[in-house]
Amino acid sequence: MESTKLRTIIQGIPKVELHLHIEGSFEPELMFKIAKRNKIALPYDSIELVKAAYQFNNLQEFLDIYYAGAQVLLYEQDFFDLTWAYLTKVHSENVVHVEVFFDPQTHTDRGVSFDVVINGMHRALEKAKNELNISYRLIMSYLRHLSEEAAFETLEASLPFKDIIDGVGLDSSEIGNPPSKFKKVFKASAAHGYKLVAHAGEEGPSAYIWEALDILKVVRIDHGNRCLSDEALVKRLVDDKIALILCPTSNVALKVIKKMDEHPVAKMLEKGIIATIHSDDPAYFGGYMNENYYQTAKALNLSIAQIQQLALNAFQASWLSATEKEKWYKKVNDYFNTI
Ligand code: ADE
Ligand code: ZN
Repeated sequence: MESTKLRTIIQGIPKVELHLHIEGSFEPELMFKIAKRNKIALPYDSIELVKAAYQFNNLQEFLDIYYAGAQVLLYEQDFFDLTWAYLTKVHSENVVHVEVFFDPQTHTDRGVSFDVVINGMHRALEKAKNELNISYRLIMSYLRHLSEEAAFETLEASLPFKDIIDGVGLDSSEIGNPPSKFKKVFKASAAHGYKLVAHAGEEGPSAYIWEALDILKVVRIDHGNRCLSDEALVKRLVDDKIALILCPTSNVALKVIKKMDEHPVAKMLEKGIIATIHSDDPAYFGGYMNENYYQTAKALNLSIAQIQQLALNAFQASWLSATEKEKWYKKVNDYFNTI
């Protein structure tokens, strides 16, 4: 399909973001602005030099830069500005529902308190709900390179805010930090009413996806790229309707795949997996939702029916109510009937 036409179609789809680290939406322009007002020196002299540094060979190289960037966030207003900038950006892309990850430990370990982080984000999310009609859920991620004990402290710190946090996730350095390391804290999180998700099978093996399912008991998997090498796992994902929350531009940027035309999403759809497309850390990987749809559709030559399926899958995998989901399925289907 011609590129402009494809981009126009993608723009018009009501879309859902299910895999977005708010710290990964920190655009260099805003990073410089906040660093200046907080009087923090950045290790770069210009926005151009920051962007030039965004070349990664693997997940860890990215994480080192991502955690460094987050150091300039100190005050509630900083977290508000970060979140509001993200929400206005995705509103322009016709994103109607977001389920946002945040990494409390990245901030609390620097002495920024949990309430500063969450109050700033929450104020922006509420404003977007009221003014931009974007619904939201919030997911607190435990950093897997830290201990389970540290995750327990984070769980404790979150409890005064448990009405506004919907779930917990697991992110950061995957290899060597299997899901089983967090068995107890995930069980305790569920007991407090949190829904459960985890990054698994991004760089790590399919065994980590099994652990996330069987030991952590997650309801969906973030990434899960590695599942196709394991037929029994594919069957499990299909039978139990476990969605894979994929991030194609991230996978290319972090060299999880060599080129976009190697992305497994089309094969996953063929096998009946509820695969969905999202952006992960768009300020670092150069693509918000539309760009992820566009690059994937272009490289894999996806049909209109496959693009429609991806859009519907994201609503299905979301934590919207059944009524809300039905409303959006109809809107998506009506939209595709007009093109
Ligand atoms: N934190 C932010 N982005 C991440 C990713 N793609 N994988 C693991 N942890 C992350
Ligand atoms: Zn992620």
